Amino acid sequence: MGPIPLCVLLPVMVLTAVVAVTAEENTIDDQYTWPQWKVPLVRKRHTVPLSSPSFAAHPQPELSGTCGIECQRHIPSPSLNDLEQFLSYETVYENGTRTYTSVSVHGLNEVTVWPRNTSSRSRHKREVYGTDTRFTIADKQYSTKYPFSTSVKISTGCSGVLVSPKHVLTAAHCIHDGKDYLDGVQKLRVGILKEKSRRGKGGRGKGGKERGKRRKGDKVKEEGLEMEENGGRGERKGRGKGKKIRSRRSVDSGKPSFKWTRVKKTQIPKGWFKGVSDGLTADYDYAVLELKRAPKVNHMDLGVIPSVKKLPAGRIHFSGFDDDRPGNLVYRFCSVSEESNDLLYQYCDAKPGSSGSGVYIRLKEPGKKKWKRKIIGVFSGHQWVDVNGDGMQQDYNVAVRITPLKYAQICYWVHGDSSECQVA
Ligand SMILES: *[C@@H]1O[C@H](CO)[C@@H](O)[C@H](O)[C@H]1NC(C)=O
Ligand SMILES: *[C@@H]1O[C@H](CO)[C@@H](O)[C@H](O)[C@H]1NC(C)=O
Repeated sequence: MGPIPLCVLLPVMVLTAVVAVTAEENTIDDQYTWPQWKVPLVRKRHTVPLSSPSFAAHPQPELSGTCGIECQRHIPSPSLNDLEQFLSYETVYENGTRTYTSVSVHGLNEVTVWPRNTSSRSRHKREVYGTDTRFTIADKQYSTKYPFSTSVKISTGCSGVLVSPKHVLTAAHCIHDGKDYLDGVQKLRVGILKEKSRRGKGGRGKGGKERGKRRKGDKVKEEGLEMEENGGRGERKGRGKGKKIRSRRSVDSGKPSFKWTRVKKTQIPKGWFKGVSDGLTADYDYAVLELKRAPKVNHMDLGVIPSVKKLPAGRIHFSGFDDDRPGNLVYRFCSVSEESNDLLYQYCDAKPGSSGSGVYIRLKEPGKKKWKRKIIGVFSGHQWVDVNGDGMQQDYNVAVRITPLKYAQICYWVHGDSSECQVA
């Protein structure tokens, strides 16, 4: 055989080069794209009535003695049986009655690999939180618009996030202290920041039209929100932008106020209750509240990612109602310092009141250019963490991660049907 003519070889080489470039682009792009997961199924087994709770517990501003990431390393991973126990749950209704539902978990082994150890072993020195890098979202232009509008206040003093038109995700400790429901849970309400409406009924009738319009407005709004997304460029820039937003306040802007909605039912995983999951309790600090009426505010979807630290912009965001700035929504972002499958440590500035906030990140939707924010965790709060199980405590800001299994459970609570919850 003679030499291969150049005219045959050349297109092949060009093709190879093109493929190589595309492949590289894909890997870069993948890092910025929401992964798609097959998640396990959480199904209801039985529901039995329980006696009404006494609703006598008092809220704790700060949790201590938490078995955190380091301490949990000494605990064997839970069996399927254990997981079914931890994910079984209690429901409390607005009339004060309570039920217990046991669940079964299916397809745990078919789930895309969720590595046991994503965390680096490096031990950080206790980092100083430094200057306060929280932003008060004072202008109703922002505080009542997406993504900030998804943040809600819980009447027991915490924050939460809308994860469906009428469901709020929050921290379990905002509802239950591990032994009993908090005083105040029987009349639990959720506050949504709303502009003081002047139009009253008129605005309501146009609900359908407004929704379409809101989409269009997104572009302008996103520019205003550079403060949020450009966080990576450093604080000074962020600060400047924050200021600009405040000074741009329009003349007629009154401070938005809370519109309160009653909670119809509350669901908490049994893993949160004392004596059930031992050292893993911190992993189950989440609860879902169903509202009596949908507040007509956009919600934020849940998302699952294998590692936050490995993301190119490994930065998380959350907004809540910190106690030291009453009535104001407070936004912050920061990097994750350490993560396990179930928990995140971070150094975002936060005060009590922001517990229960939805921790989110922004990635691209598969096959689309558009960025989408999703909730990947629930902020548990500032906690004293038992580092090695020997009583030595260190303080961290802890968040509970949305794992595939927790995604499955929360999705089931929201939809009431696990077949709608197969892919995250
Ligand atoms: C309380 O509410 C639940 C759910 O709506 C209902 O199933 C139950 O029968 C009610 N119980 C009482 C005593 O009213
Ligand atoms: C997780 O990491 C620890 C410490 O590096 C190691 O001892 C352990 O075997 C790892 N576990 C798994 C399941 O890889």
